[in-house]
Amino acid sequence: MASNPPKLKIEITSNERLKTLKEKFEARFGESPLFYTCAPGRVNLIGEHIDYCGYSVLPMAIEQNILAAVSVNSLGTIQLTNTNPQYQDFKVPCSEEIVIDREDPKWHYYFLCGVKGIQEKFGIARLAGMSCVVDGTIPPSSGLSSSSALVCCSGLLTMEANHKSLSKVALAEICAKSERYIGTEGGGMDQSISFLAEKGTAKLIEFQPLRATDVKLPEGAVFVISNCCVEMNKAASSHYNIRVVECRIATKMLAQARGLDPRGLLKLSQVQTELKASLEEMLVLVDEVFHPESYSREEICKVLDITLEQLCTELLSANTQHVMQFKLHQRAKHVYGEAARVIRFKSVCDAGSAETITMLGELMNQSHASCRDLYECSCPELDQLVDICLKAGAVGSRLTGAGWGGCAVSMVPSEKAESFLQAVRDAYYSPDPRRAAMEKQSLFVTKPGSGASVLLEE
Ligand code: GLA
Repeated sequence: MASNPPKLKIEITSNERLKTLKEKFEARFGESPLFYTCAPGRVNLIGEHIDYCGYSVLPMAIEQNILAAVSVNSLGTIQLTNTNPQYQDFKVPCSEEIVIDREDPKWHYYFLCGVKGIQEKFGIARLAGMSCVVDGTIPPSSGLSSSSALVCCSGLLTMEANHKSLSKVALAEICAKSERYIGTEGGGMDQSISFLAEKGTAKLIEFQPLRATDVKLPEGAVFVISNCCVEMNKAASSHYNIRVVECRIATKMLAQARGLDPRGLLKLSQVQTELKASLEEMLVLVDEVFHPESYSREEICKVLDITLEQLCTELLSANTQHVMQFKLHQRAKHVYGEAARVIRFKSVCDAGSAETITMLGELMNQSHASCRDLYECSCPELDQLVDICLKAGAVGSRLTGAGWGGCAVSMVPSEKAESFLQAVRDAYYSPDPRRAAMEKQSLFVTKPGSGASVLLEE
């Protein structure tokens, strides 16, 4: 488990994508790359919006990734180019402090998050100059974790260029922490699976301490990703952080209600641990403690016996200062329920019976309903797409990733895969020219892929 990311020798000429990337690098920088790094995106099968509450999640890496060609330069600058012309070149001298602008989540800031994470970890006063060409195949703003893959790819290449060494677990933790410089208070699932994934298996990711356990998915079913084509950039809106904050406030209020000291408790899982309660007992407690109506700031302050200023500085994040109403009952209910579904999903996979596929499908459907109704992180297009997927033959279908747009993941019996794809194409993509144009990269079967690695030319 404490192993480092693999270093793989690769014949560039036999890989079209690497060959093109190498040529682009040579044309741009007039030299050959020294090495390459890649980090995959992910699809979360179950366990949505619970990683930042301390609960385990169950993702797998997808084949789509961020790939970078790198050389160490003597100019003392970090210079970046993206193969997608939509993303502009960027350059910064290594002598300057790395600054990440939260107000303006441009692509290169995600790259810089990875750089900054490694720099801080090792206290590197002067980073090695790096020239990089970045190439991504993960559709952006689609809930498949393109931004975290970029952070992980950049963390890994910065480590390599500066002759440092770290385990996959340490890299995952550093990248999860450093991505928060962009302003979203992510929970660590995306960076963990990007480093810890292994081909052929999904993973149960547990936190504190971070570890990944294989989850053998049932034979006889495939997982299909479909993008609803509504873009969601979680750094550009406050939806995500509002949920993080609601969970934090719910934690304090539950603790308070049960006579625990709320100071020091920030995650819903910590309340469960302190109370030595089961998830089922936590669900009952949520119903007892919270009313279903939204909570005002005043009510929260009164219950917690804190001032408005304390609420704003200690509990709200920079981009949630404007929020006036908080739904605590619904959010806590989702979190404890979803945490229980992850455990059940894993044990159903482990038990492997004739009913496995049906039972997993049911859990995925419950998860979507909870995300839609209690956590309110879906959107009408995503709900419509999930309905279409179920009608097209999926046994389970749900939104994946942060939500409010992006992708659904469906579990489909293998023998129905072809007819499923056709039915979803006909019902969701073909009728709309914009969606039809995006279909190729929006609807595909996926298999558990490998984690991040360093690639060296043979
Ligand atoms: C984003 C975050 C993750 C996780 C998911 C929702 O992908 O980066 O940490 O919270 O949303 O499950």
